[in-house]
Amino acid sequence: MQIFEFNHPLIQHKLSILRNENTDTKLFRESLTEITSLMIYEATKDLKLKLIETKTPITIAKTKVLDEPVTIVPILRAGLGMVDAMLDVIPTAKVGHLGVYRDEKTFKPHYYYAKMPTNVAESKVIITDPMLATGGSIIYTIDYLKKLGVKNITVMCIIAAPEGIKNIEEKHSDISLYVASIDEKLNDHKYIVPGLGDAGDRIFGTK
Ligand code: URA
Repeated sequence: MQIFEFNHPLIQHKLSILRNENTDTKLFRESLTEITSLMIYEATKDLKLKLIETKTPITIAKTKVLDEPVTIVPILRAGLGMVDAMLDVIPTAKVGHLGVYRDEKTFKPHYYYAKMPTNVAESKVIITDPMLATGGSIIYTIDYLKKLGVKNITVMCIIAAPEGIKNIEEKHSDISLYVASIDEKLNDHKYIVPGLGDAGDRIFGTK
């Protein structure tokens, strides 16, 4: 698995704001959006281009435009907090949804809602989730996407636990992972340490 960890000072500065327990919901959302915008630049560097002719005020120039569909698949619910930043930069991207729940008895993941764009198999798919903890939901989502024929999958997270990275690597070594920080570990409640707490609660103000 290709792992790209961002050490850029702007990203690290904003990550420090996200980690701070005193950061309010508004600033948390803004900082998450800003970090995501900075990360997209790198995470989309392999997008295919095609040559076109563009009439400038002076002459006809050979210019390049995107020639590969992009689908963003946020892991619900915290992954939604990264979608707007991505759509700002890639306005032609589509957004696919996969709602996953865990069976209380078997603990196995299942989906209760799925809606992907029709061209998802030809798309570069970028899965967003601020927190890669155990990796369970991301692995399930990658399994689902691969069954639909998707070949080009990137995962974008803000913070990842080593345990989750290992779990993804064991099942899906062919994907790329972009992450702002690989933290120390998971605690007994499967929260990332030091982490930033519950990303969904902090984005949506539910705590
Ligand atoms: N999900 C979160 O929001 N935070 C964690 O630390 C782990 C999973």
